[in-house]
Amino acid sequence: MSRFVYSVGLGPGEPELITLKALKILQASDVVVVPQSDETGRSIAKDIVSYHIGLQKIFMYYFPMNNKKAELDRRYAELADTMQGFLESGKMVSFVTMGEPTIFSTSNYLTRSLNDLGIEVRHIPGISSINAAASRLGVPLCVKGEHFGVYELPTDVWTVVTLMRRHPATVFMKVSKGFGAMIEALDIVKPERAYLVQRVGLEEERVYDMLESVPPREATYLSIVIIKRAPDTENA
Ligand SMILES: C[S@@+](CC[C@H](N)C(=O)[O-])C[C@H]1O[C@@H](n2cnc3c(N)ncnc32)[C@H](O)[C@@H]1O
Repeated sequence: MSRFVYSVGLGPGEPELITLKALKILQASDVVVVPQSDETGRSIAKDIVSYHIGLQKIFMYYFPMNNKKAELDRRYAELADTMQGFLESGKMVSFVTMGEPTIFSTSNYLTRSLNDLGIEVRHIPGISSINAAASRLGVPLCVKGEHFGVYELPTDVWTVVTLMRRHPATVFMKVSKGFGAMIEALDIVKPERAYLVQRVGLEEERVYDMLESVPPREATYLSIVIIKRAPDTENA
């Protein structure tokens, strides 16, 4: 029995934005596990995988919407057990996550539960929504000598202000809860550029220039924000 599984990054949504290596592993796998956190919603990950391989190889696993740690830990352990069962029956197993598996991803938690069972996880990188959004905008995240920051958007205005001032470019992910704080922070920081990119690479992709107008609240679902600080605010 093999004691490893693959964690495959699927890229930001467009089926052609997965790597050749990821494609080969999906095709070679007997079971492709798609963890999903919402029982009712449509799974973008499943759409990407089923673009490349037959539905019969896909194993969906649903996580509850709530963020209760004990419940989630129990579910990750349960899924790891199930995957161990697949390995024991001689199957080649992979699991997938959107974007890059090492960034804000269920892969990180599932990897821990698999490792607890002595199962090695081999990671196949994916194109993050960070890269996809920056490329979509044609905005450099950094040039020589610069740095950029990536954060889950905080809900406190002054924390957002501090982060926007910390780097020449700042990326905010999971932007729903802190949306109001970000709009206020933009007014204080007055960056050179500020974009919200919704559903990059997917149907209904939208780009909002936040210096022109405030995007509607609904625009924050599956969206990422890129801020370019004005040059004279360096070290402010
Ligand atoms: C749980 S994290 C997953 C990030 C993923 N591992 C990655 O590398 O892109 C989910 C957040 O990623 C961003 N995101 C993922 N896919 C996106 C897309 N297609 N368009 C815009 N933002 C996206 C959003 O900020 C979303 O709240």
